[in-house]
Amino acid sequence: MITLKSEREIEKMAESGAVLAGVHKGLRDIIKPGLDTWEIESFARKYIADHGATPSELGFEGYKYGTCVSINDEVAHGIPRKGLKLKEGDIVKVDLTVNLDGFESDSCWTYPVGKISDEAQKLIDVTKKSLYLGIDQAVIGNRIGDIGAAIQKYVEDEHGYGDVRELIGHGIQPTMHEEPSVPAYGKAGHGLRLKEGMTITIEPMVNTGTWEIKDRLDKKDDWTYYVSSDGSLSSQFEHTIAITKDGPKILTSQGDEIDKKYQL
Ligand code: MF3
Ligand code: CO
Ligand code: CO
Repeated sequence: MITLKSEREIEKMAESGAVLAGVHKGLRDIIKPGLDTWEIESFARKYIADHGATPSELGFEGYKYGTCVSINDEVAHGIPRKGLKLKEGDIVKVDLTVNLDGFESDSCWTYPVGKISDEAQKLIDVTKKSLYLGIDQAVIGNRIGDIGAAIQKYVEDEHGYGDVRELIGHGIQPTMHEEPSVPAYGKAGHGLRLKEGMTITIEPMVNTGTWEIKDRLDKKDDWTYYVSSDGSLSSQFEHTIAITKDGPKILTSQGDEIDKKYQL
C-alpha cells in the first residue's frame, strides 16, 4: 500500500535519516586499506544504539547484521565478516536502514579504499550523479518512470555502463520496503504518478560492464547476495526522499554541497 506522509512524519523520518547519515559520515574517516569489514558493522551498530535507534536490516528476512557491505564486483547484500579486510584500490558499498521511534530511513554509499583506479573513480562519480539526476525527477506530477529514465539515460546512453535491473528502489515507511517499486531504469512518462507525501528510495546500482547480475549463496549464513555477471566493478548510491510541495527532499542527507538544494 502507498501511504502519504504528513509533514510531521517526514520530519521524523529525517531525524532517523540524520542518524543514518551520521554513520556514513563516520565511515568516511575509518574506511581505509586494512580495515576489517566487521569494524564497519560494529561502528554502525554502536553509533545507531548510541543515538537511540535500531538497525532495521538486522533480522530482516533472516539477515544477521545491521549493515550490508559489498566489495568491488559484489552488487548488493554483501555480508560484513570478521577477518574480511579492505584492500588498497577496492571500492566498498555500505547499505543500511535505521529505525528511530518507528521511523525508517535507508541509504547506501560507495567508498574508495585508499587510492583507487581512474576507472573506479569514474564509476563512483557517474553513479552518484545518476542518483541526483533521479532525485531531480522526484516531483509532484511526474511519474515513477521519469526517475528511472533520467538515471538510465545518463548511465547507459552517456557512459556505456550497466544499469542494474533486478534490484530496485522502493517506497519506505512504515516498513523498510513498501510500494511503489522505484526502478533506476524505465521510460519517461510511464508508471505511477508521484504525489505529495510519498516517501521513496532512489538507489541506482551501476556496473562498468553488463547490467546483469547473478546471485551467490553464502553457505555459512544461508544468505543470497549479488555480484555482477561479468565480474565488473559495481557502485551504488541510495537516498531516502520525500516528495513535497517544495520539491524532492533528501531525508538521509550528509549535508554535502550537492545535497543543499534538496534539504528539508
Ligand atoms: N537497505 C536495503 C535496501 O536498500 C535492504 C537490504 S536487504 C537486507 O533496500 F536484508 F540486507 F536487509
Ligand atoms: Co538500502
Ligand atoms: Co533501499
